[in-house]
Amino acid sequence: MPTPPEKWWHSATGYQIYPRSFCDSNGDGVGDIPGIVSKLDHLADLGIGFVWLSPVYRSPMADNGYDISDYRDIAPEFGTLADFDRLVSEARARGIGIVMDLVVNHSSDQHPWFLAARRDAARPEHSYYIWRDARPDGSPPDDRQAIFGGPAWTWVPEVGKYYLHLFSPAQPDLNWANPALRAEIHAMMNWWFDRGIAGFRMDVIDLIGKDVDAGRHEMGPHLHPYLQEMHRETLAGRDVLTVGESWNVTIDTALDFCGRERGELDMVFQFAHVVEGWDPVHGKFRPRPFDLPAFKRVLFAWQQALAEDGWNSLFLSNHDLPRQVSKYGDDGQYRVRSAKALATAMHLMKGTPFVYQGEEIGMTNTAFERIDQFRDIETLQLYDEQMAQGVSPEAFIAGANANGRDNARTPMQWTDGPQAGFTDGTPWIEVNPNHAQINVAADRADPKGVFAHYQALIRLRRELPIIRHGGLRPIAGDHPQVMAYERELDGQRLLVVVNFSGEPADFDLPEADACAGRCLITNFGDRTEARGRLALEPWEAFAILDA
Ligand code: NOJ
Repeated sequence: MPTPPEKWWHSATGYQIYPRSFCDSNGDGVGDIPGIVSKLDHLADLGIGFVWLSPVYRSPMADNGYDISDYRDIAPEFGTLADFDRLVSEARARGIGIVMDLVVNHSSDQHPWFLAARRDAARPEHSYYIWRDARPDGSPPDDRQAIFGGPAWTWVPEVGKYYLHLFSPAQPDLNWANPALRAEIHAMMNWWFDRGIAGFRMDVIDLIGKDVDAGRHEMGPHLHPYLQEMHRETLAGRDVLTVGESWNVTIDTALDFCGRERGELDMVFQFAHVVEGWDPVHGKFRPRPFDLPAFKRVLFAWQQALAEDGWNSLFLSNHDLPRQVSKYGDDGQYRVRSAKALATAMHLMKGTPFVYQGEEIGMTNTAFERIDQFRDIETLQLYDEQMAQGVSPEAFIAGANANGRDNARTPMQWTDGPQAGFTDGTPWIEVNPNHAQINVAADRADPKGVFAHYQALIRLRRELPIIRHGGLRPIAGDHPQVMAYERELDGQRLLVVVNFSGEPADFDLPEADACAGRCLITNFGDRTEARGRLALEPWEAFAILDA
C-alpha cells in the first residue's frame, strides 16, 4: 500500500481543551487562556502535537461559546487577544499548534450583524441570515424543530419575519448563499491564520450547504461547492490541519470531504460509532446497552473506507459526549485498566487520535441529583420539554447523568485540594467529588497511571510508521468481548488485542494471526507472544510488534 506524503498531523495526537473547565487563573470560577498557558507543560509532557481549543471568541455564552458575537475577539472571561497570542507562541515553543474552533453555521443573536439584521431589512447584514414569512395565521413558516428543542423559527416584529435557528434562538443560522457573508468568513479565517494558528475544527460543517425550502439541512446541495471555495480562499498552500464535525457523513460520503482529489478538509469527525449506542427513537438520553460487535463493525468499516485515501480521526470523547471510561469502560473497580484498554484500542488504529481533557487521567462521569446542578443548554431545554411530556425528573436525570453533555464539562481535576485545583473561586459547574482520588497530581505520580499509558501511546505513534500508515485488518470481528486487529506495513506486523469487558475472556487467535516479538504496550503484564487460545484478564490490552 503506498504511504501518503507525510503530514505533521499523521504523527501528532490532538488534545481538546474546553476552556471554561480547564484552568481558572483569576478566581472567577471560569477557566481562561492564562490558565491554559500555565498548564502547557502538562500537555508537552503528554506529548501531544496540537490543541483543539473549543471556542474562546467573544460570546454571550448561551451555548458556552458556540454562539459567537465577535469572530475577531476573545471573550473577556477567557482573556484578551494578547493572551491568545501568548498562548500560540508558548505552545509553539513546546511544539504544540493551536487549532481553533470555527463556528460558522450560526452566530450569536448578539453579533452586530444580527443586531443590524433584525432592526432593518434594508441593511446588508439582513441577508447574512435566513428569513421567511409567517404562514397566513401568523405561525412559523413550517413545523421544523430546533436540535435543542422547540421551533426552529423565531419571529422578529421589527422586520415582520421569522429567522431560522437550527440550534437555540440565540444561535441564528448564517446565510451561506450570500457571497458577501462567505467572504467575511474567509477573511476572518485568514486573519486567524495570520496570527499563527495551526488549523480549524469546523463545527457542524455539514449544515452550511442547506437548502432551506427543501427542508434539507445536512449535507445540502451547496456544501461541497462552499467548502471548495473556502479551501481556495483560505486553506490552499497552508500547512494546517482541518477537521470537520459531521453527524451525517457516512463511509460513502467521507471522501467527498477528505479524499485527495477533493482535498477540502484533512479529516472529519464522524459519529457512527457513537450513535450506534443510542436508542433509535429516544436518542442519547435513553442509551442502548453497549454492543461490541456493532461498535467494531462501524470503526473497522471506517478504517477500511479510508485505507487508501482520506484520513480518520480517532476519538471516543469530546465536550458533547459522556466520559469514555464511564460510557465504554468501567469507572469502578477497573477504572485505570479500562481507561488504558480503550486508549490502546483507539490509538493504535490508523488516523489522528484526539484526547479530551481529563481523559488522560481517566476522569469519569459525574452524578448530579437535581436539575439545578446542570448547566448545558441542551439538557435544560430537553428537561423542560420532557417534563411537559410527563417524563419523571428521576428518569430524565438518570439519562442526563449517563449521556448528557455536562459530564465532560465538569472542571479538570488537577489536585485533591479545594475545587480540584481548578479555581480559587466558585466553579461555574460543580467539581466531581471524586477528585479526591482522581486527579492529575496523583495519576502522574504513579508510573502505572493512565497518563503514563497515554504518553507511551502518543510516543509510539511518533516513532513507528506502522502505527501511522500500516494497513488494518480486523481479527474475529464478531467476538462479543474482544477487539483485535492487525496492522501491517512493508512486511512488519503489529497485533493489538483488547478485552473490552470486566470478565476474563478466552480468545482463540487464528493461527495466521499469531505474533511473537516485542510487547509495545500493555496494561497488565508483558506478552511477547500471542498464539492459540489466549486467556485474557478483565480489560487486558496489549500490542505485540513482530520480531
Ligand atoms: C456542535 C458543538 O460541538 C456543540 O457543543 C454545539 O452545541 C453545537 N455544535 C452548536 O454549535
